[in-house]
Amino acid sequence: MARTPLIAGNWKLNLDHLEATHTVQKLAWLLRDAKHDFADVEVAILPSFTSLRSVQTLVDADRLEVKYGAQDISAHVSGAYTGEVAGSQLAKLGCDFVAVGHSERRQYHAETDEVVASKTKAAFDNGIIPIVCVGEGLDIRKAGDQVSYTLAQVDGALAGLPADRAKDVVIAYEPVWAIGTGEVATPADAQEVCGAIRGRLAELYDAELADGVRVLYGGSVKSSSIAQLMAEPDVDGALVGGASLDPEEFAKIARFRAHQVGL
Ligand code: PGA
Repeated sequence: MARTPLIAGNWKLNLDHLEATHTVQKLAWLLRDAKHDFADVEVAILPSFTSLRSVQTLVDADRLEVKYGAQDISAHVSGAYTGEVAGSQLAKLGCDFVAVGHSERRQYHAETDEVVASKTKAAFDNGIIPIVCVGEGLDIRKAGDQVSYTLAQVDGALAGLPADRAKDVVIAYEPVWAIGTGEVATPADAQEVCGAIRGRLAELYDAELADGVRVLYGGSVKSSSIAQLMAEPDVDGALVGGASLDPEEFAKIARFRAHQVGL
């Protein structure tokens, strides 16, 4: 089954809504100039909540093919949860995607696998595709336990998720030691865990479902490293942090096929 690559930019806590619209505009123009075919490689950005309405307005008005989503979602539907943003609110803003269980949420907001599973469910309940983030820290990598650790996170995040939803999930393998450090995993490191994630999906569901799910790599991805990563059979795209803030660099990452020639 052919999986459409997904290149998603996680802007984290950067850019106000004016900067966000400017950046999306620039990205869209760069990709338009490059005749980027969005049917071949999907491109999405995940700005702050405060930018979503402006991004929606721009994308709708200019009929841009760039997709967008949020960096987090509440596990709750509504009620007394100060500061949280519900899936229904994100759906109203046209979000296609939402990142769930990013390591920064797990670390700074104590998100457990149970919380990640609830948020995954909340996304699907509202027709939003969750990008479920998993990945080991440095101590676990040094002990050689990256596969078992990451697969346990996959099991936790997908607990109770029926196949008709799991077929649409996106999983991002982001080793914590590679996030924001400039230390990108080798293509072989990325393939080892991304391949194991697909294998686990086949065990949890079936081989056909596993074959259709997109597994991304994330952690210090740049235009200079994306082509080699994408050449791996089980890497179906990237979740890009720092490099996605620069539209020229991010557009180059999205156009990885142009520089895959000569690999
Ligand atoms: P980075 O972040 O590309 O800046 O390492 C990746 C991520 O956290 O999604």
